[in-house]
Amino acid sequence: MALLSILCYPDERLHTVAKPVAVVDDRIRRQIDDMFETMYEAKGVGLAATQVDFHERLIVMDVSEERNEPIVLINPEIEWASTEPFEWEEGCLSVPGVYDRVQRAERVRVRALDRDGQPFTLEAEGLMAVCIQHEMDHLMGKVFVEYLSLLKRTRIRAKMVKARRERERDGEH
Ligand code: NI
Repeated sequence: MALLSILCYPDERLHTVAKPVAVVDDRIRRQIDDMFETMYEAKGVGLAATQVDFHERLIVMDVSEERNEPIVLINPEIEWASTEPFEWEEGCLSVPGVYDRVQRAERVRVRALDRDGQPFTLEAEGLMAVCIQHEMDHLMGKVFVEYLSLLKRTRIRAKMVKARRERERDGEH
């Protein structure tokens, strides 16, 4: 397994629309393993392939306290979503240090393939439902800060560009 580098907003590659996974083979399973390792190392609850510059419809998640309930979603599609308004304070490994409230569906039912290429359906609510919607947005090239006001986005962009400059200056890049 290998740690992958995570793209940081406002990297243009985060706006790439991912293609469906054509076949769930060892290449995809290797990518899944690397994404889990990267997500756990970064202490995230979810990671979309887009964030590691791999543009196929693939998500890994683990919203459990114990960090021992990995979930893989390949070619996920939302089958049903609840309509009552629901807000959660979200963060993102691609926008480190930024947290803000976004309105989502509280409950969703998603259909996807597992790591063996078998179809399954997952019903989720609360944090897991939010995570699924957040990661599926990544696959469509959308980052959660794009739900925020223009003023907030402008501030976040400036903060991220400054942080990147500092990282480059300190030679951590
Ligand atoms: Ni994210």
